[in-house]
Amino acid sequence: MDRAQTYNDTVVRQFTIMTLVWGVVGMLVGVIIAAQLLWPALNFDIPWLTYGRLRPLHTNAVIFAFGGCALFATSYYIVQRTCHTRLFGDGLAAFTFWGWQVVIVLAAITLPLGLTQGKEYAELIWPIDILIAVVWVSYAVVFFGTIAMRRVKHIYVANWFFAAFIITVAVLHIVNSLALPTGFLHSYPVYAGVVDAMVQWWYGHNAVGFFLTAGFLGMMYYFVPKQAGRPVFSYRLSVVHFWALISIYMWAGPHHLHYTTLPDWAQSLGMMFSLILLAPSWGGMINGIMTLSGAWHKLRTDPILKFLVVSLSFYGMSTFEGPMMSIKTVNSLSHYTDWTIGHVHSGALGWVAMISIGCIYALVPKLFGREKMHSIKLIDWHFWVATVGVVLYIASMWIAGVMQGLMWRAINDDGTLTYTFVESLNATYPYYAVRLLGGLLFLSGMLIMVYNVWRTVKGGVAERTAVMQPA
Ligand code: HEM
Ligand code: HEM
Repeated sequence: MDRAQTYNDTVVRQFTIMTLVWGVVGMLVGVIIAAQLLWPALNFDIPWLTYGRLRPLHTNAVIFAFGGCALFATSYYIVQRTCHTRLFGDGLAAFTFWGWQVVIVLAAITLPLGLTQGKEYAELIWPIDILIAVVWVSYAVVFFGTIAMRRVKHIYVANWFFAAFIITVAVLHIVNSLALPTGFLHSYPVYAGVVDAMVQWWYGHNAVGFFLTAGFLGMMYYFVPKQAGRPVFSYRLSVVHFWALISIYMWAGPHHLHYTTLPDWAQSLGMMFSLILLAPSWGGMINGIMTLSGAWHKLRTDPILKFLVVSLSFYGMSTFEGPMMSIKTVNSLSHYTDWTIGHVHSGALGWVAMISIGCIYALVPKLFGREKMHSIKLIDWHFWVATVGVVLYIASMWIAGVMQGLMWRAINDDGTLTYTFVESLNATYPYYAVRLLGGLLFLSGMLIMVYNVWRTVKGGVAERTAVMQPA
């Protein structure tokens, strides 16, 4: 068959499989550090296994390896279907796959060795940063090249979200990583003092907004209507949602620096924009959920749809909680506590992981020429195990966080602190045990998924040439 008449699904398949692999690895490291917080001796006095080194390994593995591969896979799949054309540049697309895997492997080697720039979510040392920039620019060329070659006039809204995600992450990564190398493994940032902090959290918050949100909204706008068999609830709302979200997110970063030496006006600006951000976030969530109007009955029989809808509910929850936590008086209680960790995982597990899982279940049979997944029952099991896991994780961290905040600020009549720090730590242990259980459940769900996908792929009819058809 003429190659121009077929999609490039090889690279989509590769990224899909690696999403599962890195998902299991990243969450396993999450479970290990959750256990270490409960039993610190679990580092066995081996430097590579210490909490300080494994924690960034966890965040990098789940965000950039698991989340990143899911984003590459779905964006490459969606852009071809919605533009009715093959991916631009087969070779370059293959380079983005192998390049990204090399970045991940290098991260997995350097972080346990303690090689880090010390900036959260931007820990990797400068030579790896350069490789990331090269892979990312190649990704942009493949994605926008495909858009440029499209055979339909319209650019479907999912692609707008992916486009914003790709451009913004390039800008964020390059600006925040500017550094003066002092050797092959070490460098100093070009920024100093509070400017360094502000650039870092401008990066950090927009990493949440664009890496962990915009791209996943792109997935949502394609897979929710597909799976529900209904058009998007309001296309007009999706366009308003897009422009409002990308223009407001940019300004919210200072909420990570409340009560610091950052000028007060900048902190208040960050707080105001975070509060406004509730509107577009909920606009998107409502648009996704309302797409099910007339198809709610499908939830009874389709566990993939359950993953998608529940992920949107967690998205709504975390984007309500985030603006509340950005209010300075609330933040004075929540900051430094496990409340933040609860918020992070209601977004990361509830939203990011659940929507990725739903989309991958929808993708795998199509990519491997099967009618459906090997076992729908196992998807249902996965759904319940994962949902209970997230709820245990975030509920325990919320309670622990509020308790810690209240204990730390409790003052006796004579002005001394009511509790020592160790007392608050002791009080937190039971909640750490519940979080560990939640993490274990979520990880077990991933293992169920790996088995189900493996059986689906193994039993697959080897019809791997997807012929173009309207999206
Ligand atoms: C089995 C699932 C998971 C478990 C058990 C787990 C566990 C943990 C633990 C114990 C921490 C450190 C908390 C602390 O320092 O007090 C952490 C941090 C973090 N995790 Fe996870 N995690 C899981 C899945 C994920 C996923 C899927 C994502 C993202 C998509 C994610 C993103 C993060 C982030 C961003 C942080 C840093 C939070 C901060 O600095 O405030 N995690 N995780
Ligand atoms: C309207 C949307 C959101 C707003 C306004 C918001 C706001 C906030 C605030 C105020 C904090 C605490 C900062 C601190 O005390 O240090 C925070 C932390 C965090 N949020 Fe959100 N959030 C939102 C949505 C999300 C979503 C959807 C995710 C994940 C997918 C997420 C991931 C995180 C992470 C990873 C952190 C921890 C950063 C760190 O300290 O390492 N947020 N967010």
